Amino acid sequence: MEPKLKLMELVAIPVLLALLSLSNKANACPQVPCYFVFGDSLSDNGNNNNLPTLAKVNYPPYGIDFPQGPTGRFCNGRNMHDFIAQLLGFKDDIPAFATSRGRNIFNGVNYASGSAGIRKETRSNLGVCIPLNRQIKNHETIISKITRLMGNYSATNLLLKQCIYSVQIGSNDYINNYFKPEFYDTSRRFTPSKYATLLVQQLSLQLKTLYNYGARKFAVYGIGQIGCTPYAISMYGTNRPECVSKLNKGATLFNNRLKLLIHQLNNNLTDAKFTYLYPSGGPDLAKLAPLESAVWSPPSSGSLKFNVDGAAKESRAGCGGILRNEDGVLRAFFSGPIEGSGTDFAVLIAVKVALELFSEAGWVGKADLVVELDSKVVLNWILVPAQRPWKWWPQLVEIDLSLRKIEKVRLELISRVSNCLADGLAKDGLTRDSFVKAWW
Ligand SMILES: *[C@@H]1O[C@H](CO)[C@@H](O)[C@H](O)[C@H]1NC(C)=O
Ligand SMILES: *[C@@H]1O[C@H](CO)[C@@H](O)[C@H](O)[C@H]1NC(C)=O
Repeated sequence: MEPKLKLMELVAIPVLLALLSLSNKANACPQVPCYFVFGDSLSDNGNNNNLPTLAKVNYPPYGIDFPQGPTGRFCNGRNMHDFIAQLLGFKDDIPAFATSRGRNIFNGVNYASGSAGIRKETRSNLGVCIPLNRQIKNHETIISKITRLMGNYSATNLLLKQCIYSVQIGSNDYINNYFKPEFYDTSRRFTPSKYATLLVQQLSLQLKTLYNYGARKFAVYGIGQIGCTPYAISMYGTNRPECVSKLNKGATLFNNRLKLLIHQLNNNLTDAKFTYLYPSGGPDLAKLAPLESAVWSPPSSGSLKFNVDGAAKESRAGCGGILRNEDGVLRAFFSGPIEGSGTDFAVLIAVKVALELFSEAGWVGKADLVVELDSKVVLNWILVPAQRPWKWWPQLVEIDLSLRKIEKVRLELISRVSNCLADGLAKDGLTRDSFVKAWW
């Protein structure tokens, strides 16, 4: 299909960069339109399946608890990033880069590759893998595809900066490099301390490259207790079920430097938010449960859902909206300033723009529409004519006409926290001079 993008004016990128940092601080937004995953076997979901390597797992008993059986995940069922994607509200799994096709890339892509490391030679004698630099190159390819589908770079940039970028890598630079002196000379060339410094320096460049490609929200993981795996204990241990301390010490050296790096990147890179995560020890999943009930839910099959919102500050007002399909895949969004003032009025205009965009895109009769907003006042104005303020009667009449034209449309009230992406777009809209509107 032809990319159908209407960009009313070129978006001022630097201003847009503020969008997520602002909206996130305001309401701890739990949902994002896309999730990109970089890493090793802890994250891989099938990228190694067709590579000549021993580090592949697309056969039983891997996947015995996964609905489709073995998929190339290095475990019995779903991996951590599958769970995170679910908690973020994604209905489908994030596609593996190797098998990503068509529009599912709007949800993000998983580039991770078992046995991969920060350094390009890391992978032991296992065979071919996709090291982090190559994963970042693959991300560049995906960005071009998204840009082609959307038809415009500005819209791509607005999308990319809202996504979460997960980077969990480094274990193999120890277990399949530094501590494999039979294949690698790194342990002869560098002290453990120097090696950790080099790894973190290289990771710093790699994270900055992602930043330059538009990433702003990073989840960066430390290395877990690599000396406590059954493999490490059998390989390096002393026949006792104790952890191998030289491996854990390497991980600690790396993690301490990584924490410092994350702190510096947060200070040095404008509008970026890096979060350091420590993988062992386990987060309390029960604490995340309330988020799950608050996240956005996709529309039923054959429907599209438009989340809309308005924002006002001093004399300015803006509106924003985001349209997703039954799989949670982004199909359209808009964001921009409006004439007028007050949050309620801004929400009203957001509804109006959403309905018009839906018709303009040619979806009337092809899909049902659900419009979600978090203002009870505005919903009542639309549904109960007796409650309408007379000064906004003209806009409300236009909404009436659009609703009649679309026919299969429903308006729904939702909680603010489930509407935070639309809220972010509206807040961003009021700071800008131009209106952006895109669909595909
Ligand atoms: C994006 O759209 C704007 C406005 O229509 C246009 O000026 C700009 O050249 C477009 N950019 C690309 C890369 O197509
Ligand atoms: C951050 O900026 C400081 C001061 O300019 C610099 O010393 C440091 O190397 C920078 N760190 C990174 C990771 O860019």
